[in-house]
Amino acid sequence: MSSQIDHLLTETRRFAPSAEFAEQANAHADLYDEATADREAFWAEQARALHWEKPFTKALDWSNPPFATWFEDGELNVAYNCLDRHVEAGHGDRIALLWEGEPGDERRVTYAELTDEVKRLANVLTDLGVESGDRVAIYLPMIPEAIASMLAVARIGAIHSVVFGGFSADSLRSRIDDAGAKLVITSDGGYRKGKISPLKPAVDQALGDRGHGPQETVEHVLVVKRTENEVSWQEERDLWWHDLVPAASADHVAQPFPAENPLFILYTSGTTGKPKGILHTSGGYLAQAAFTNKAVHDLHPETDVYWCTADIGWITGHTYVTYGPLANGATQVIYEGTPDTPHPGRWWEIVAKYGVTILYTAPTAIRSFMKLGRSIPEQHDLSSLRLLGSVGEPINPEAWMWYRHVIGGDRAPIVDTWWQTETGAIMVSALPGVTETKPGSAQVPLPGISLDVVDDQGQEVGNGNGGLLVLTEPWPSMLRGIWGDPERFKETYWDKFADQGFYFAGDGARLDEEGDVWFLGRVDDVMNVSGHRLSTTEIESALVGNEAVAEAAVVGASDETTGQAVVAFCVIKESYMKANSLDGLVDKLRAWVGDQIGPIARPRDVYIVTELPKTRSGKIMRRLLRDVAEGREVGDTTTLADTMVMSTIKGQVTQKS
Ligand code: WTA
Repeated sequence: MSSQIDHLLTETRRFAPSAEFAEQANAHADLYDEATADREAFWAEQARALHWEKPFTKALDWSNPPFATWFEDGELNVAYNCLDRHVEAGHGDRIALLWEGEPGDERRVTYAELTDEVKRLANVLTDLGVESGDRVAIYLPMIPEAIASMLAVARIGAIHSVVFGGFSADSLRSRIDDAGAKLVITSDGGYRKGKISPLKPAVDQALGDRGHGPQETVEHVLVVKRTENEVSWQEERDLWWHDLVPAASADHVAQPFPAENPLFILYTSGTTGKPKGILHTSGGYLAQAAFTNKAVHDLHPETDVYWCTADIGWITGHTYVTYGPLANGATQVIYEGTPDTPHPGRWWEIVAKYGVTILYTAPTAIRSFMKLGRSIPEQHDLSSLRLLGSVGEPINPEAWMWYRHVIGGDRAPIVDTWWQTETGAIMVSALPGVTETKPGSAQVPLPGISLDVVDDQGQEVGNGNGGLLVLTEPWPSMLRGIWGDPERFKETYWDKFADQGFYFAGDGARLDEEGDVWFLGRVDDVMNVSGHRLSTTEIESALVGNEAVAEAAVVGASDETTGQAVVAFCVIKESYMKANSLDGLVDKLRAWVGDQIGPIARPRDVYIVTELPKTRSGKIMRRLLRDVAEGREVGDTTTLADTMVMSTIKGQVTQKS
């Protein structure tokens, strides 16, 4: 945190958009004035860019905070907005998806073809008994069917819950259970790092007996054939996509649903072990997704080739792969695999091959490319790129400058976009044709968004100071709740500043002398590893679930490439030590967490210690462990029950490393 503050004190570089860029940009400075003059009218105008089967007469209803409704009496069909209306407008032949598989296979899917596929799948889902309001879990790699699945579920007014394909069977099971999903859509597998990563076997495991009996709500599993690996089959329950979808009718009229009809649940890590199902609804979400994609990414659907590298398992994939770009009629690249397979220049090869003009990615990817050196991107023609975006974590000024120079040829403006699963769409960012950008700062709230940086009491800290980021007014794509848990929704986001009615984002931020926002990372027990949110508690519960572990504490330590890395401190059970040697235990525990939660949660380091630092009330002081993990002088230990414990831990850690 201190190094970031140093940077921002000395950061004087400024990059204004070129006159050429500014002139063709979708968003101009007058948007700020319009939004300030009448915020709700501003959002109503953005929402009118969508097709409403029944127009709304009112924008916001905030009479029952923190439960907002937007455009409540309006009716629309989300999938119709992303598909049919473009075909009806004569753009059926426009390519929607330029898909590239990891092994190098390709598919080009036009708007007409995607619409057709979604209509067939909508008929299949209806035939399988899926109705409006039912939940469908989607556990797929980045293939066109993944996007078609989301849209088909939306088309019939049902609710999708996409689970990232890298999550384990247990994680999948808890998400399926929490949502009470009726159907799972998966594939035999997907390609990752040159290998087949199987998915159907994880679904089989997830639906089987995980200690509390077999899963009870899922009636069918619809399986896409992608990798042709052997899969086991449960007759009646399991169905092949290729048997049902092509044979289904492509006639399907999209029925309108109310603006507040739930669209999806997306699980994200909170400060407890139980993942939270963030609930988003239709009209407000789609309106802000489409508007921000147009204004911030400066999307011109007739000419741009857009590429957002996020997986649909994350919110960025929902808003800026599926909904925003398709609502705007974009042509976009979808890539199935990892950036370095089969060679470290794969991404840049794709940019050159398709002539990508807009690239939206994460700082962790940029930093790993930086590490490999500029000679790799320099082997490819990146001159088509005209706008670069960043999302998921703070981007340090060095990475920002490298991105601008090496990838953007000092030409393409960079937009550093801050938002969350909960906010649904971008909230803080430069407008690329308007803002003079500053390396490392996410800068200003978008038109129609109100935020502040406050102290613990909710008092504004003012320019030049740090504090907590709050959103002071409701916005169209805000979460509508946590699935099945309205109390947790209030408690997590609204109780802290209940007097002021502010939404508490959980991020530290600082306003510089010019009022620009600099994000400083999470202030709660949530880590950000490679742009993915992980909860310390969730990994701790996985660790203590292992037979060897008595107690565990997990911290996020800063890491050059991944932003933060998972570092675990474990106390081993006496009984285990009596019966077993500790050789190889560290590797076993790392693998264990990978199996329990997913490879992204696997700790970088596991330290076996004899005690954990605790306060007198028994709370683990993770701050001190973070000092150790980051190799710093250990901070104030006076509130520890046993002040000696830190020197013991330090000794045990240095001995191991
Ligand atoms: C962090 C991802 C700084 C932040 C869209 C937030 C960022 C969390 C930025 C949400 C950014 C995201 N600068 N920090 N540009 N973008 N974050 O829900 O801590 O996966 O609260 O949504 O990522 O992560 P989530």
